Amino acid sequence: MLDKTISDARGKSVTIHAPGTVANMVCGFDVLGLALNEPYDVMTVKLIDESTVVIHNVDSYNLPTDPARNVAGVALLEMIEKLDRKTGFDITIEKRIKPGSGVGSSAASSAGAVVAANHLLGNIFNNDDLVQMAMFGEKLASGVKHADNIAPCIFGGVTLIRSILPLDIISVPSPLLYVTVVHPQIEVRTEDARQILKKQILLKDAIKQWGNIAGLVAGLMKNDYDLISRSLEDVLIEPVRSILIPAFAEVKARCLEAGALGGGISGSGPSIFMLSKDEATALAVENAMKEVYTATGIAYHTYVTTINPRGVKIIE
Ligand code: HSE
Repeated sequence: MLDKTISDARGKSVTIHAPGTVANMVCGFDVLGLALNEPYDVMTVKLIDESTVVIHNVDSYNLPTDPARNVAGVALLEMIEKLDRKTGFDITIEKRIKPGSGVGSSAASSAGAVVAANHLLGNIFNNDDLVQMAMFGEKLASGVKHADNIAPCIFGGVTLIRSILPLDIISVPSPLLYVTVVHPQIEVRTEDARQILKKQILLKDAIKQWGNIAGLVAGLMKNDYDLISRSLEDVLIEPVRSILIPAFAEVKARCLEAGALGGGISGSGPSIFMLSKDEATALAVENAMKEVYTATGIAYHTYVTTINPRGVKIIE
């Protein structure tokens, strides 16, 4: 069955959009993430007869084309290991999500690659298998396997990663939420942003944090915007990492004044994200972000978008 599917698909190609993601969602370090409708990467994958991965980059980021040093490459090498015949992938990657931006650039590459490849193979792997493979990309990018960008990128929506060993991913329903993101054009490497974190925490801080995580998940499931807002608090990671992000405290204060439900560092930064109930508020929040960053003189991009409910999208 597998052989027939592969031979039917050989030479065919598929193009996908792999969305950016917001990991952590403030209080849920390594366990919560959401998929965005914008930005996204574009990738075309083709089956080839060799058990290898050939990478073409069509953007200006100069990412490695050696598959063992490329996050999409290592994820696909993992997939090839699991195939029982000679098959490989030729991939063309157009990154629209800047590497090191904090909106899941590496996850979009590795998750997008495995979803596209699996589509060409007749969907022989399930989503959990794909998350496992794509996490090798995260390990290459940040030194550690984590699924809080990969899982929402593949499943869409908001995902809770209760555990990665064994993998236990839960899709969390959510009400309509607008997401405003500001991406200052500086790079924060996830590996560095993880190294500066404290290895031990106080019990009283842990209690606050897990109260917030539970509150956020309950608020999302109950469409309770006030509970969501109260729970968007991070007493563990933000106090340490925010020093890497220029004007973080000011952006946050101004966005809350503009009516955001709450927000914080997107993934490991430097992007900052805010959640809002409606588009008008999300636009006012964008305006506040622009005012603060324009005054700093640091170049930046902003996005106003919504939660992407389906994750990687097959285009053709
Ligand atoms: N949970 C990860 C971190 C996400 O915060 O280091 C990185 O995008």
